[in-house]
Amino acid sequence: MKKIEWTIDEVADLSKKIIIVTGANVGLGFEATKIFASKNATVVMACRSLDKAKEAKQTILLDYPNARLDILQLDLGSLKSIKLFVGAFEKKYEHLDILLNNAGIMTVPYGLTEDGFELQNGVNHLGHFALTAQLLNLIKKTPNSRIVNVSSIAHKQGKIDFDNYLYENGGYSKMKSYGRSKLSNLLFTYELDRRIRDKGYDVKVLAAHPGTSSTELGRYIKPGASSHLFLKFALKFGQPPYLGCLPEVRAALDVNAQGGQYYGPNGFAEIKGFPVVVQSNKLSHDLDIAQRLWEVSEQLTKINFIV
Ligand SMILES: NC(=O)c1ccc[n+]([C@@H]2O[C@H](COP(=O)([O-])OP(=O)(O)OC[C@H]3O[C@@H](n4cnc5c(N)ncnc54)[C@H](OP(=O)(O)O)[C@@H]3O)[C@@H](O)[C@H]2O)c1
Repeated sequence: MKKIEWTIDEVADLSKKIIIVTGANVGLGFEATKIFASKNATVVMACRSLDKAKEAKQTILLDYPNARLDILQLDLGSLKSIKLFVGAFEKKYEHLDILLNNAGIMTVPYGLTEDGFELQNGVNHLGHFALTAQLLNLIKKTPNSRIVNVSSIAHKQGKIDFDNYLYENGGYSKMKSYGRSKLSNLLFTYELDRRIRDKGYDVKVLAAHPGTSSTELGRYIKPGASSHLFLKFALKFGQPPYLGCLPEVRAALDVNAQGGQYYGPNGFAEIKGFPVVVQSNKLSHDLDIAQRLWEVSEQLTKINFIV
């Protein structure tokens, strides 16, 4: 019988692999960490709360007592924390096989990161941009390595306005900002993939989205409020996180995956289902916007991102 679905059963032993998962303590990052650990990888849980990370680690150890889980503190809303994380990682590890840029926040009230960036674009895009830039040398040195960025169906609501990228001139909307950050994740993925291909490095850059999954992502949506009703519904009845994480896990592990691919669920409107290659919108493939976003991200983070 012809097999159509990819499952983790296809994944070989990952004993020699070192994987960083951002936001590994809960939701999709937690489930992905569990899968990687079940295949004997060393997983570095990059979390902003050490207490939450320790609790998550203990939970995984109950199922997989030999799991190799390391916790390193990382706050993507702080360029200083990102730098410290990279320093701590480089001290302990000599290679990095997979960087899974999974962490994210959604529909938060307007606020600023430590460096003065609007929160959603600061954490979801700029934080991961800065992290990837500083880990790239190690990733390039590692044969057959990967970078996976986690986006969302919400990228389709995203628009980039370079005159007001961080809503410094007002007009903040929780959902529009989230959409912008998730569109930025894709623009960054494809631009990094192009630059890496140009140089011929043995690194694949991919993106993924979970459809909708019942995680803690909706924690900033007020329970009684009438706004974001669809979102509340979608998150509540979305697929369980152990299924929601599969597109990002497939992007990270499928031996047949190619750089520049985007994985998502195969069901109706990509809301649920098994992970397959899906298509992001036209804007996410715009070369000029991607290049400009790269430059703006470099200026804001003060990082010269050399590929
Ligand atoms: N769930 C869905 O339906 C859905 C749909 C589309 C896309 N996504 C994407 O999937 C990814 C994972 O989300 P999720 O659904 O698993 O949400 P979640 O359950 O809320 O988990 C988010 C993770 O990100 C971490 N995080 C938040 N801010 C951070 C920061 N400043 N520094 C470091 N880590 C930070 C959180 O840490 P704390 O626990 O300490 O806050 C948590 O570990 C996100 O990128 C999200 O945009 C999810």
